Amino acid sequence: MGSSSLTSKFATEVLSCDPASVHFPPGSDEPSITSPETLQALRAASHHLKDKKQCVVFPTETVYGLGALALDSDASRRIFATKNRPPDNPLIVHVSSMTMLYRLLPPGYRIPKHYEALVKRFWPGPLTLLFPNTVGKVPDIITAGHPTVAIRIPSHPIARALIAIADVPLAAPSANSSGRPSPTRAEHVYDDLKDKVGIILDGGPCSVGLESTVVDGLHEDNNLRILRPGGITVEDIEKALAEDLDGSGIPVPKVLVHRRDYKDEGMEQAPTTPGMKYRHYSPTVPVTLLCTHSIPPQDTTPTSPHDYFSSLKDLSRTPTELVKVGVLLPLDSPLQAFAKDVPGVEFHHFVLGSVSDPSTTAQRLFDGFLTLDKMGVDLIIIEEVEEDREGLAIMNRVRKAATESRWLR
Ligand code: TXA
Ligand code: MG
Repeated sequence: MGSSSLTSKFATEVLSCDPASVHFPPGSDEPSITSPETLQALRAASHHLKDKKQCVVFPTETVYGLGALALDSDASRRIFATKNRPPDNPLIVHVSSMTMLYRLLPPGYRIPKHYEALVKRFWPGPLTLLFPNTVGKVPDIITAGHPTVAIRIPSHPIARALIAIADVPLAAPSANSSGRPSPTRAEHVYDDLKDKVGIILDGGPCSVGLESTVVDGLHEDNNLRILRPGGITVEDIEKALAEDLDGSGIPVPKVLVHRRDYKDEGMEQAPTTPGMKYRHYSPTVPVTLLCTHSIPPQDTTPTSPHDYFSSLKDLSRTPTELVKVGVLLPLDSPLQAFAKDVPGVEFHHFVLGSVSDPSTTAQRLFDGFLTLDKMGVDLIIIEEVEEDREGLAIMNRVRKAATESRWLR
């Protein structure tokens, strides 16, 4: 199939959906939907996916997804064309129930005990698990030819209802052009992909704001490898495992974070984890990471905050032009005092969470990148956060977005 038939031009429709009008009664995989407008939008989206084999953008609790039929290679191929995504980067398959999950797994497959603990605690939710695709139920275009497939049940009522109504698994990467920050509001998607998709379901801002945690628990040692830190923290996973397996006689697996706790050269080459091979999460303008507590590399002398912020005016192309700097700092960062009143510099602040509240910073990070980029700033500066809890996923994204790092003392 040539690329011309993969990308069509659309008059993009943005359809409002009310997540509060959708409920999954306990024990049921069928949504009950009280808003006629939301039901109509979901039906239109399902028709677009199934009958026209086109992509639909839908909200999830993490970021907006660009969905297509996971079991139809031609439909899924449109995802790659729409995003300009490299074909060797595999997609996550989204299902609405355990019944739908089992339809994708090898016949007779039993979910390992340590996965059961995670499923019980975190599904539906921002956790993606690798499963064997040994009998090839999921097409190669989704798995990029790997023997595994990444699957999750999203908790966002609109995402889960769309999958349940369509009654088919949906492959969905983040709904952004490849390399850009992931969208957390429908407006971000519209700015980026209008004319390239037929339907955007608008379910409001995403509550988590960073992509799901991708976990590989298929190794013989039974340890869990975090391929991508995300919405579910390592601390949450360790706690759930300890609580669930305590007294069961099953050893509690270790949770290993890629690059922090182990290296995998093969994986660095085959880009099974975002940003390993390709640039990722990047606004169109340069991003400077301000390091305020990590140890500077040898040969690097830290600058004082005052000198650093004063030097920003030197970015001006003419003596009279103001430099516009987008500022992403924790609410209570000591650097806030310096990011103002510099002659020649206009600061545009986008407020993140407080230092002690990385989940708010996670929720606002991509919105901050995209909002400041759209305002036309010349540079975005962002301060590092501690790499615990959501901070691990935040710094994973920020390092990949940053074009340079500066050490301040
Ligand atoms: O929160 C999310 O996960 C969002 C929403 C839309 O669900 N989706 C998302 O998809 O972030 P995407 O395509 O941006 O990231 C998918 C990543 C791949 O880049 C890869 O790292 C990992 O998931 N992945 C998928 N299949 C894999 C596989 N078979 N083996 C290893 N990693 C895999
Ligand atoms: Mg992505």
